[in-house]
Amino acid sequence: MAGRLAGKVAAVTGAGSSGPGVGNGKAVAILFAREGAKVVCADAVAERAEETVAAITAEGGEAAACAVDVTERGDCARMVATAVERYGRLDVLHTNVGTLSLQGIREVTEEDWNRMLAVNLTSMVLTTQAALPHLEAAGGGAIVNVTSIAALRTYGPLTAYQTTKAGIIGLTISLAGQLAEKRIRVNAIAPGQVWTPLVAEVLSDQMREERRRSGLIQDEGTAWDVAWGAVYLASDEARWVTGQVLVIDGGVTLTMHGGNRPG
Ligand SMILES: NC(=O)c1ccc[n+]([C@@H]2O[C@H](COP(=O)([O-])OP(=O)(O)OC[C@H]3O[C@@H](n4cnc5c(N)ncnc54)[C@H](O)[C@@H]3O)[C@@H](O)[C@H]2O)c1
Repeated sequence: MAGRLAGKVAAVTGAGSSGPGVGNGKAVAILFAREGAKVVCADAVAERAEETVAAITAEGGEAAACAVDVTERGDCARMVATAVERYGRLDVLHTNVGTLSLQGIREVTEEDWNRMLAVNLTSMVLTTQAALPHLEAAGGGAIVNVTSIAALRTYGPLTAYQTTKAGIIGLTISLAGQLAEKRIRVNAIAPGQVWTPLVAEVLSDQMREERRRSGLIQDEGTAWDVAWGAVYLASDEARWVTGQVLVIDGGVTLTMHGGNRPG
């Protein structure tokens, strides 16, 4: 344990994995704990949150599971209350929940659009509102929002996904401006095409291989690559960094060919 987050208390949303393997939120929760943070692992599916907590405690870390639907204001308040009641404070909010929708502009239904807004974007407002009084009480802190490189480039028929992910960047910049005086830093991570249970559901072997080869660094990204970025942004090493989008994508957004694949 290197202790880069020693003494801090963090809440991670979507801290489980939607299938076998390690999703971004799970990797973040585990690395936060390895770096010394006490972590509230929040997930809509209680067993997923508990699995992450078990992985952390098996390594000697400290974590608590919380069944939370981040689209519900009351649940967000309960997640934050768990951190404060159990560990006495909150220093870091990592908002990782996000879901995919593969509808193009001709197909997207109002129902799906509203669901995507609620899960991917409104949830970040609700969790931030719940966390703010406690981040302020702690004398400042860090919020890390997970967006996607799909917010930055064309990406096939992902109308609501791309729009909500772009909204997260706007929200991040707005909050950075509003909260700096309270010494609360707000940054975003834009992962590229990393192999997680979320994309494993929709990608064929061939698509996976194309993704692997689409960046400058011709290797598959993992949730751990994303999570190390979150450790940095959550830590005091990033004390002078706010309102930024950290792209972690093996150089995909710099290539000409890019891809037309979900992620
Ligand atoms: N995998 C990629 O290639 C990729 C690329 C860019 C961005 N991202 C982003 O990373 C984030 C995590 O993705 P992942 O691939 O690790 O996903 P994942 O499906 O493995 O994990 C997401 C977790 O969020 C939970 N969740 C879903 N809705 C929830 C809700 N309303 N309340 C609480 N928990 C909820 C799920 O139960 C699941 O455990 C998402 O925001 C996604 O958009 C992923």
